[in-house]
Amino acid sequence: MPRTAVVPAAGLGTRFLPATKTVPKELLPVVDTPGIELVAAEAAEGGAERLIIITSEGKDGVVAHFVQDLVLESTLEERGKKSMLEKVRRAPALIKVESVVQPEPLGLGHAVSLVEPSLAPDEDAIAVLLPDDLVLPTGVLETMSKVRAKRGGSVLCAIEVPKEEISAYGVFDVEPVPDTNNPNVLRVKGMYEKPDPDKAPSPYAAAGRYVLDRAIFGALRRVPRGAGGEIQLTDAIALLINEGHPVHVVVHRGDRHDLGNPGGYLKAAVDFALKRDDYGPELRRWLVDRLGLVDC
Ligand code: UTP
Repeated sequence: MPRTAVVPAAGLGTRFLPATKTVPKELLPVVDTPGIELVAAEAAEGGAERLIIITSEGKDGVVAHFVQDLVLESTLEERGKKSMLEKVRRAPALIKVESVVQPEPLGLGHAVSLVEPSLAPDEDAIAVLLPDDLVLPTGVLETMSKVRAKRGGSVLCAIEVPKEEISAYGVFDVEPVPDTNNPNVLRVKGMYEKPDPDKAPSPYAAAGRYVLDRAIFGALRRVPRGAGGEIQLTDAIALLINEGHPVHVVVHRGDRHDLGNPGGYLKAAVDFALKRDDYGPELRRWLVDRLGLVDC
């Protein structure tokens, strides 16, 4: 696993307006825990040593979530609120967090390019986790890192998506890898943003987890800017593929939630709450009743 994990969180979050006028979407709670903490926990569990969060001005709260709050901690301690104290202490203890400010929202590729000066000369790759995407169970980054160790280059995460939904995604054109018996590792020949369902080259869509070789920074400098001056990460990856850089995907066969829009966020919240001992049983009873279902 790369030592540095990068979480781009400088987007505008327009799909979540009006909430995101003042609250960064990465801080919206999935039950009680902000999405950014879930993603930081995944990076730490995967073995990353530091997390670089790309933020924009006015989104300081995202990084502040990882700063110890001694006043709150001592209040909770005095009041004997042990389980609350554990919750409050978790984020700052997870992983070392740094931030880089993206002065203007010039695209995901531009956001990623900003971390290059923070890397040590011997860091030959970075992990990138998009905080909108929850990929469960966690562990896919370790698998992706093993694929990179064996095959070099860059490794991305894919999920299998039904044809009716494929045009909402970045889709991979893939071919089997001859010398493997793992059908979930595929070689990427190209990437297409939001294709027509009939033109999608495969059912495999990008799922917000990347292990990127340092070569990505050179590619990001070379790709042309798109509409609004944006630099797309997908374009830089496509450029690397064209130049012969090995790019593979690991197909994740578990759950995936999209926290970037209210519909996906609600599904994630319900899914997480149903699994909790404190809220799950009552929520389940209520849903069954509300939907007129028969519990089984
Ligand atoms: P999206 O375009 O999907 O999300 O970016 P957004 O801009 O936050 O939200 P909408 O589309 O307006 O609702 C994907 C990821 O890239 C980051 C976002 O924060 C998100 O995690 N991003 C995007 C940046 O960090 N900088 C950018 O300039 C653009």
